[in-house]
Amino acid sequence: MTSTSTRRRTAILVSGRGSNMTALLAAAADPACPARIDAVVANVPGAPALDKAAEAGVEALTVDHRGLGGRKAFEERLDAELRAREIELVCLAGFMRILTPWFVDRWSDRLINIHPALLPAFKGLDTHARALAEGCKIHGATVHFVRSEMDTGPVIAQGAVAVLDDDTPETLGARVLEVEHAIYPQALRLVASGAYEIDGMRVRATGGDPAMPAPLIVPDS
Ligand code: GAR
Repeated sequence: MTSTSTRRRTAILVSGRGSNMTALLAAAADPACPARIDAVVANVPGAPALDKAAEAGVEALTVDHRGLGGRKAFEERLDAELRAREIELVCLAGFMRILTPWFVDRWSDRLINIHPALLPAFKGLDTHARALAEGCKIHGATVHFVRSEMDTGPVIAQGAVAVLDDDTPETLGARVLEVEHAIYPQALRLVASGAYEIDGMRVRATGGDPAMPAPLIVPDS
C-alpha cells in the first residue's frame, strides 16, 4: 500500500475527448496507486476531457495556446500552473501541441506520452491509416518518456494488436485505443513508483512491484 503522502503528484495534459485521461483517473482512484492526479490541463477551451475530469472531482483548467503571445509564453504559463500545484509527473494524453526543448528539458524524465503506434514506427499523425497503407500485420501503441524530438524517447510500455484483413483506420484505431487504456495506467504506476532505470532508450524495472509492464499482445479474436 502506498501512503497518501508519497503518491506522486501528477497532471494530465489533454486537447480533446480524454479517454486515456479517464483510464489514468480510474487507475489513480485506487489509493494503492503510486500516482495521484491533481490536475487536468487542456490547451483547447471546451475540450470534452475537462468536463470528464471535473465530474471525477479533479481540478480541470485551460491554458489556451492561442492568445498568449506565442509558444514560449504558452509553455511558461503551463509550467507555472504545474509548479503552482507542485506537480511531479506530467502525462500527455492526446495533447496535440509539440512542446519545445525548453519545456521538455524542464520536465526531463518526468514527462510521459502515449502514441498510437509501435514507436519508432509511425511517428506523427494518421498512424492507423499509415500502418494499413504499409501493409503492417501488427500495430499498437507506445508509452514513452518525452524527448525534444517528436514521438521519441525511452519506451516504458507497448501493446500490440493484429491487423485484420478488413480493418479500416477506424476499426484498427478502436482496438489500439483499448490497448492504450491498458498500457498507460501500467506505465504511470511504474514511473510513479520510481522503481525503474533509464539506460539510453531502454527502461528497466528495478523493483519487484510494480514490475515492468509486460508487452501486451491482444490476439486476433
Ligand atoms: C489517442 O489515441 C492518443 O494516443 C493520441 O490521441 C488520441 C487521444 O485520445 N495521441 C497522439 O496522437 C499524440 N501524438 P483520447 O483524448 O481519447 O485519449
